[in-house]
Amino acid sequence: MPKSPWRRTSIDRGECKIDLKDYILSDPYRDGEHALYFPKHGGIWTLQPKTIFTEEWLQYISFEHHAKVDLAQIFYRAPHYQHPGAHVDIDRSDNLYGGGLNWTIDPDDAHMVWYNMPDQDPTYTKRSETDRNKEWPLEDLVENNRCIIGQQPTLVRTDIPHTVDMGANERWLISVRFTRLNDWNQYLDKFNDWIVDETLV
Ligand SMILES: [Fe+2]
Repeated sequence: MPKSPWRRTSIDRGECKIDLKDYILSDPYRDGEHALYFPKHGGIWTLQPKTIFTEEWLQYISFEHHAKVDLAQIFYRAPHYQHPGAHVDIDRSDNLYGGGLNWTIDPDDAHMVWYNMPDQDPTYTKRSETDRNKEWPLEDLVENNRCIIGQQPTLVRTDIPHTVDMGANERWLISVRFTRLNDWNQYLDKFNDWIVDETLV
């Protein structure tokens, strides 16, 4: 099995029943959704599946893929904004959380970048109950892979340090997290039949 921390899939992109940017920007601080918002830099929100996705798409995921959507994490970054660190995702029990199914709302010119796990101790941050992580300064890390996620759903590994190297486009990304999937290998196994050859390099 290749070691790449991402896999392009043929999964149909989730149909949003709301205009995501309008929904969030019209009230960025809704209880239970808002995690972090710095208008000139970026933001993170957690949406319940029924708030964002159509019933048809949730059923498609359930029947075709035998998977249940737990949460949708929404990540916004402003053009050229560069965060100085990379992080690993942590779940609600403080364990490493290994994956997500990601796609951007609009054409994407940013790179998601992964790094080797360093020996140094990280800084622990808790941005909300559903968004916790451990972070390291970029200068202490060694890059091991990068890709443009874009609008085709792509499995991404989140238990090794990762960040986004922004381009000129504003970027809104949906990261779907599934019930009963916690580590990267579980994500790969669950969606194995929908991984496309592009990433088998
Ligand atoms: Fe992350």
